[in-house]
Amino acid sequence: MEPKFKILEEKISEAQLGGGKKRIEAQHKKGKLTARERIHFLVDENSFEEIGMLVTHRATDFGIDKEKYLGDGVVTGFGRIDGRLVYVFAQDFTVFGGSLSETHAKKICRIMDLAMQNGAPVIGMNDSGGARIQEGVVSLGGYADIFYRNTLASGVIPQISAIMGPCAGGAVYSPAITYFIMMVENSSYMFVTGPNVVKTVTHEEVTSEELGGAMTHATKSGVTHFTCVNEIDCINRLRSLFSYIPQNCEEEAPRLDYEATNEKREKLNSIIPENPNQPYDIREVIAEVIDKDSFLEVHKDFAENIVVGFARLAGRSIGIVANQPIHLAGVLDIHSSTKAARFVRFCDCFNIPLLVFEDVPGFLPGTDQEWNAIITNGAKLLFAFSEATVPRITVITRKAYGGAYDVMNSKHIGADMNYAWPSAEIAVMGAKGAAEIIFKKEISEAKDSEAAWKEKENEYNQLFANPYKAAEHGYIDEVIRPDETRTKLIAAFRMLENKAVKLPRKKHGNIPL
Ligand code: HXC
Repeated sequence: MEPKFKILEEKISEAQLGGGKKRIEAQHKKGKLTARERIHFLVDENSFEEIGMLVTHRATDFGIDKEKYLGDGVVTGFGRIDGRLVYVFAQDFTVFGGSLSETHAKKICRIMDLAMQNGAPVIGMNDSGGARIQEGVVSLGGYADIFYRNTLASGVIPQISAIMGPCAGGAVYSPAITYFIMMVENSSYMFVTGPNVVKTVTHEEVTSEELGGAMTHATKSGVTHFTCVNEIDCINRLRSLFSYIPQNCEEEAPRLDYEATNEKREKLNSIIPENPNQPYDIREVIAEVIDKDSFLEVHKDFAENIVVGFARLAGRSIGIVANQPIHLAGVLDIHSSTKAARFVRFCDCFNIPLLVFEDVPGFLPGTDQEWNAIITNGAKLLFAFSEATVPRITVITRKAYGGAYDVMNSKHIGADMNYAWPSAEIAVMGAKGAAEIIFKKEISEAKDSEAAWKEKENEYNQLFANPYKAAEHGYIDEVIRPDETRTKLIAAFRMLENKAVKLPRKKHGNIPL
């Protein structure tokens, strides 16, 4: 057997070298890891089992049959993260620039099929020059096979994409269908058409980084959910994100042990400013309520007027959606609505309870918003909350005005428990505007119309700028002191642990896209 073992060892060594030492060195020179190194850092030590290490392409055109590499530009297999099963593929840029051939695509599809059959997440690490140019339409077919699987797996198993190099052309659509995209600053980019095509068609001069780098997609397009300073940062975040999500749609996210201590959080009593028009950072509220340092913010640099992310409450994974008063007063606009809607739907797919902090003056007015369809986009958030059957709790910290009151997880659209702090103002609109409309005649006929307006504003404030009218109607379950918020939420989420709600039978709803 010895000579046969030798052949096997030689093949394994050859496969592990990918496109060869020179190309590995070139990869390292760019500050990038190889596919195998990335997997090594991603999964628990010695847990990775490779599948298809000896696969090669079968193309023949342009003399490519004389150039073959074991593995064909993608490392695929399964491993463990904190002991939990995960399927992984990592494109190997040292082999034909990580480009996607028929067999490369088949390897990825096999991983996805296994992940679906066995109910475990898929993490894809992308670093590729796109379609293997020598293979033509066969490569395009390979992409479509992956897109189709991405779509069927949506809502069944978590799929996460890390972009660690080029990702261009139609190749971007696989990560786009997955739930979360991470990009590495200065070494990854994503675009449908590159700078050269852009220049030819629109005459714009733009670099790859400006067009589709990590910061561009983090701040302008919202395509990426996380930007990472380097690849190790990216891999650490993949592991961290993994800890908040379950294996599949039938399971719950892992729970950490939690020992109850004093849950009173006095700092919460002093975060809301005396002046209702003064901003405060909702992240301070979040940090006080959740388990210490457990907040993993998603989409941090995009639509900053709403904050979304994962956290733990008494050891249990929850999703948080919170209006952010320090940006645009926490108003809802197109981007914040779609950002939050997508997050709500992810949590609902994977049994992660939702906690909403509400301080919203309404929807953002203006032609830009109206002409770009704030109506359709705002409706996405309304639809996403209405459809969500996971436990859902709202805490109104301050403003809950107009349509935004309904949209932000109100009781009327299926929230389970709604709390308000004594600082809450729950009304159709702000007192000033309301007084101007309903007391128009009195104000205009008064001797001192300014004073009359002020008086009517105060009257409206007295009556409506508080949580008690809503509480009288049962729209608020309890008005609570801020310092007891954590205690109340832990008890309420425990009470909702076995929540079972069935939506009406249907093929699927039609979220306003
Ligand atoms: C085959 C490719 C390749 C590709 C790169 N290579 N892209 N081989 N098919 N798509 C090979 C190169 O020939 C080279 O081989 C090695 O990978 C590294 O490439 P370099 O160009 O030397 O690297 P770099 O300078 O870092 O540039 C990387 C790159 C560039 C920006 C990705 O290679 C590039 O522009 N590639 C073409 C991209 C492209 O147009 N792809 C098709 C897009 S259309 P050697 O032997 O020298 O190491 C598409 C449609 C998908 O993808 C549709 C899905 C629906």
